[in-house]
Amino acid sequence: MAEHAMAMVDALRGDTGSQQLVYRDQALHIESVCVDRIVTAVPTPFYCYSSDAIRTAYRTLSGALKPVGASVCFAVKANGNLSVLGLLAGLGSGMDIVSGGELERALAARVPASKIIFSGVGKKRSEIARALEVGIHQINVESEAELDAVGDVAGALGVRAPVALRVNPDVDARTHAKISTGKKEDKFGIPFEDIPALYTKAFAAPELDPVGLAVHIGSQILDLSPYRAAYSRIADLVSLLRSQGLRISRLDLGGGIGIPYDHGASPDVGEYATIIRETVGGLDCELTVEPGRWLVGPAGILVTEVLFIKETADRLTAIVDAGMNDLMRPAMYGAVHPVFPLMQDCQGKSHIYQIAGPVCESSDVFGTYRDLPALRSGDRLAFGCAGAYGASMASTYNARDLAAEVLVDRDRFRVIRRRQTIEALLALEDETEWQVSPIPSAGDLAHAF
Ligand code: LLP
Repeated sequence: MAEHAMAMVDALRGDTGSQQLVYRDQALHIESVCVDRIVTAVPTPFYCYSSDAIRTAYRTLSGALKPVGASVCFAVKANGNLSVLGLLAGLGSGMDIVSGGELERALAARVPASKIIFSGVGKKRSEIARALEVGIHQINVESEAELDAVGDVAGALGVRAPVALRVNPDVDARTHAKISTGKKEDKFGIPFEDIPALYTKAFAAPELDPVGLAVHIGSQILDLSPYRAAYSRIADLVSLLRSQGLRISRLDLGGGIGIPYDHGASPDVGEYATIIRETVGGLDCELTVEPGRWLVGPAGILVTEVLFIKETADRLTAIVDAGMNDLMRPAMYGAVHPVFPLMQDCQGKSHIYQIAGPVCESSDVFGTYRDLPALRSGDRLAFGCAGAYGASMASTYNARDLAAEVLVDRDRFRVIRRRQTIEALLALEDETEWQVSPIPSAGDLAHAF
């Protein structure tokens, strides 16, 4: 078990080369903080992130991309906590957003609008207006109807909207079907062959400033070759558009670099940079990438407590106090996050447990794990690689309050989102006045008989 857990910890370190999650004196530590110490101050379940892991990942990626001149816009959807955004912004990161809400998050984290890109397939006019009013760097447009809407809104505001057209390159990212976005049957992007006519149309519109192209083929991409295929297609398009006298100065290359949730290796970001250089590097365009998961995924854990051990004929199930509402990925994509006991029991025999949450759905199962020590009610576990698409996808299903989030930096930790109270959950709801008045009127009685 000890070896297995250490291998998992090694896997979790990924390419960052840092050691933010380690066992010391048999207790799991995140940086220099014993996770069990946080549990005494913060009720489970809660998310916990390592500042150092985020910093190291950002510096590793931006360092690898520096020679090709590509800048980084963090995909806020992966983890929109203001402290996490602030940490990344402080390192120089821009932001990629997909809603008015994410725009407000980025602005609240003091990211300048000039470093924010607005992606996404469905934007409301009110969201477009707000983005233009604050001076957004770029709006990535995904259809002709959206281009018209951006033009209308910009015209009404008397501004010129900087737009990039998101290309659907019809490339298979070879990832989970639910997070593949670059094939022609996916709802995302503008078909490759429609780009020249639409880019020409944007050029002709005085309220639009077409600045370039964008592409994003999917998420959790472990084999980098689809990037080469997609970026090569973009390079072809740039040549074609330029041959028609159209100006292209920016390319947004999307996000999607995957992380190993098991023992596998993380994609080599140096190789990713090489692909960028060899495909679009010589085009004299401003380059941007929009990673989310790679920057924050390995930096986070979800800490939970075992409520009950349920023994049935064919298995042992540990029922924990975190559920699919807290971490949706196992139920939604069949994802398996590594699990680490907070206290490492070197004497413990290897046990196989199914780990399940309390939510009333059969899909609320984190997975079946081997090589765990004997678990008892009250033991604590941490699910690894939970820094991306964990808290940001959480819901209050089953009237379960949103888990707290904690940030660690060296030997200190701080709650960066308090646990939502049930009062706050109920405060938005009102009973109708006819429910509140229990005395039926004469008219109601007449209807009743
Ligand atoms: N840019 C765009 C336009 C995107 O749609 C996405 C992710 C990203 C960048 C960032 O992708 P990343 O580098 O994080 O892979 N909930 C799923 C992932 C959904 C990704 C959606 N778009 C999951 O938990 O696996």
